[in-house]
Formats: sequence, C-alpha cells, structure tokens
Amino acid sequence: MKGLKQSLVTTSTKLFNAILQPINVLYFFFLFGCGLATGVILSSNLKNVSCNLLASQFSVSAAPTKTVPLATLPAFELPRIGLKEHLKVPDVKHDMDEKELLWRASMTPRIREYPFDRVPKVAFMFLTKGPVLMAPLWEKFFQGHEGMYSIYVHSSPSYNESKPESPVFHGRRIPSKDVQWGSTNIIEAERRLLANALLDISNQRFVLLSESCIPIFDFSTVYTHLMNSTKNHVESYVLNGPVGNGRYDPRMRPVIKIEQWRKGSQWFEMDRDLAIDVVSDQEYFPLFQKHCKRKCYADEHYLPTFVSMKHPERNSNRSLTWVDWSRGGAHPAKFSRTRVTVEFLERMRSGSKCMYNGNSTSTCFLFARKLCPDTLDRLLRFAPKVMHFNS
Ligand SMILES: *[C@@H]1O[C@H](CO)[C@@H](O)[C@H](O)[C@H]1NC(C)=O
Ligand SMILES: *[C@@H]1O[C@H](CO)[C@@H](O)[C@H](O)[C@H]1NC(C)=O
Ligand SMILES: *[C@@H]1O[C@H](CO)[C@@H](O)[C@H](O)[C@H]1NC(C)=O
Ligand SMILES: *[C@@H]1O[C@H](CO)[C@@H](O)[C@H](O)[C@H]1NC(C)=O
Repeated sequence: MKGLKQSLVTTSTKLFNAILQPINVLYFFFLFGCGLATGVILSSNLKNVSCNLLASQFSVSAAPTKTVPLATLPAFELPRIGLKEHLKVPDVKHDMDEKELLWRASMTPRIREYPFDRVPKVAFMFLTKGPVLMAPLWEKFFQGHEGMYSIYVHSSPSYNESKPESPVFHGRRIPSKDVQWGSTNIIEAERRLLANALLDISNQRFVLLSESCIPIFDFSTVYTHLMNSTKNHVESYVLNGPVGNGRYDPRMRPVIKIEQWRKGSQWFEMDRDLAIDVVSDQEYFPLFQKHCKRKCYADEHYLPTFVSMKHPERNSNRSLTWVDWSRGGAHPAKFSRTRVTVEFLERMRSGSKCMYNGNSTSTCFLFARKLCPDTLDRLLRFAPKVMHFNS
C-alpha cells in the first residue's frame, strides 16, 4: 500500500508541475498514465503477497516455507502424549493420608470402554507382619510375566527390612500402620492395600495374600482363571452359634440385620468394581468399627456381610485360598517340610469340586496356606514339575 501512496504522491506533484508548465501537457499525460499503471500493478502484487502470507500462517498442514516463522513449528512435531500424564501411577511410597488415599482411590471412569490398549493386571496384595516368607517361590511364579501383575506389601511399620528384599518385592511396601489380628484395623490395612492398588488403572483383579501363602498353579493359569471369572471370590456363609451369628451386635440395626450377618475367610479375590465399592464404603465399615471389636473378629465378618448385602449375585461365596480346618480349633493347620509331597500339592490343586462360570470344575483353589518357611526348598523342587512353573 505504501508503494501505491508514494506513486499517487509522485503523480500529484507531477500534476502540479504540469499545470505550471502548460507546454508539457503531453508529458503530463504520459507521466499520469505511467503512474496509474505502476499503481495498479503494485497494488495487485501487494494483495497477492499478503494473501500468500495469510494462507501460510494459518494453514497447519502447509509445508514450512521461508515466509513462516520457524519458532511456531516445533509444537506440531512433539510425540503424542494422550492420557499418559493423566494416568501416571504415583510412587508406592507416597505421603497421602488415609482420607486422601481412599478418596483418590474411589474415583472411577463412567465410560466403560478404555480409549487405549489396556493390558489388565492382577494386583497381588500381601498383608504380612514382616517379610514375605515364600518370596523365592513367588519370584519363580512371576518370572517372565512382567506387565501383567502388580505387587503391594503391607507389613508392620516396626519391620526393618534388614534382609535384602528379593527383586519383585523390592520397593513395593506401601505406607503401613500397625495391625492387631482380629481388630478392625486389619480391615483398614486391607482397604489401604486395595486403595493403593486402585491407583493403577491397569489393575483389574485384586488378591489378598499372607506371608505364608503360596501359589499352587503357574502364572498363566492363575491369570486366565481370574480375568475370565464372572464372579468375585469372597467366602461368605451363614453360621449359627457363638463364632458365627453370636458375634452379631443388635446395635447394627437397622443397617445390618441378623439375617444379613455372614462369616468367611478374610483372604479374598475381587474385581475392580467391588474393590472400588469397598474403599468407598462409608456406611457399613463405621458400624463394624463401632460394634465389632475384639472377640467379634471383624476380618471374618465385614467383607462376607458387606458383599452378600451389596453384590450377592456377583459373588461365588468361596475363597480361592486352600486351607485345612479339619483339625478344628481357632487356627487352621500349619504345614511343615515333611508334609509337602507331590500328592499333597495335587490334592490342593484338584481335590475339590466347585462351580466356575456356570460349569463344574476341580480347579477351586489357586493359592494355599499356611506353609512354614522350611517347606520352601521342597516347594521350589516340586514347582516346575507339579505347578508347571517356567513353562
Ligand atoms: C531395627 O533396627 C534397629 C537398629 O538398626 C534395631 O535397634 C531394632 O531392634 C530393629 N527392629 C526390629 C523390629 O528388627
Ligand atoms: C478366556 O477364555 C477364553 C477361552 O474360553 C480364552 O480364549 C481367553 O484367552 C481367556 N481370556 C484371558 C484373559 O485369558
Ligand atoms: C452367594 O450368596 C448370596 C447370598 O449371600 C446368594 O444370593 C448368591 O446366589 C450366592 N452365590 C452363589 C454362586 O451361590
Ligand atoms: C462349560 O463346559 C462346556 C463343555 O465342557 C463348554 O462347552 C462351555 O464353554 C463351558 N462354559 C463355560 C462358561 O465355561
């Protein structure tokens, strides 16, 4: 535009001069024509130039040319981040307090389909006093299946970790609190384990294990069995008498009635939906904290009752952890070295009958307890042959 103005100014000066010198009328017309032509040519060229500039500045896909400032380009060349930043799993050793942790863990997407490839994982949650005693066997169990499992350990805060931890358990201890067996704080610990495991969106099934638990099938069998199961595995049954219904406190009415009271083993296996319900429960658990103390053994009643009230149709009502109560008494049998034989393992693996996804099966247990640490060398020896580890 500047060029056009200049040429107009030049033309008017020439016009003035021409009027002063009437002899040069012809010269004036010649100059006027030239000026006009120059103006027209210049203005149309300028329009083209500015149009091109605009076009290349606003078109994202345009190939970079010399006229586009280079500083604006790198933003389009970064690799795609997508949801990565939003689904970051916090460090196992975070400093969220109990309220913060449970609140964060209770979050769930309402769109059921994942907009990315999600490899579902099994969360193995160990509730222990000290170290995971059977770690070398678990080590063999997990070998070669990275990316399909997560491990969480809740152990007594006074445990020192003086012995070097085995690799798969290294750094997997969650912020833990003291637990008294039989008290409601054992359920707090279970909820703490669930909440920590829920922070990883990939975790789909959640297994609670003790330090004396062992796997009795190889990883692939356990993984397929859990992922394909249409049911949760929280043992839940009615038991009349002092150690069953006798532990019910009528002050739990009207939220929990005596006919809704259940008993069962604390060693559960559940899916993500139920795990979220458990960490979000603010109605039933406070009642247990108030009215199920000491001789009530809340860990044997809270989940069996909660699950049978909230999701009875999705529960198998049986535990996946084999245990021997045949001797009676308050504690199940403990097995030491000489009791561990191939036949013993086979009996745990397929000595029962139960239902799985609507079909009868003899694979009712995937884990077993209570195994003493001195059984480890035998278990390691039998595992490849009987349990098909490393196959
Ligand atoms: C933990 O370690 C300290 C010193 O390192 C020791 O005094 C204490 O007894 C240990 N506690 C346990 C439970 O092993
Ligand atoms: C579930 O079972 C089917 C066969 O019934 C199998 O093809 C599939 O791989 C199993 N799913 C998982 C997650 O293992
Ligand atoms: C488990 O028990 C509940 C009642 O507590 C019942 O509704 C449900 O059908 C039972 N599930 C199975 C598989 O038997
Ligand atoms: C039950 O067993 C039958 C025959 O063995 C099989 O065809 C069917 O797929 C099984 N159903 C389930 C749900 O596993």
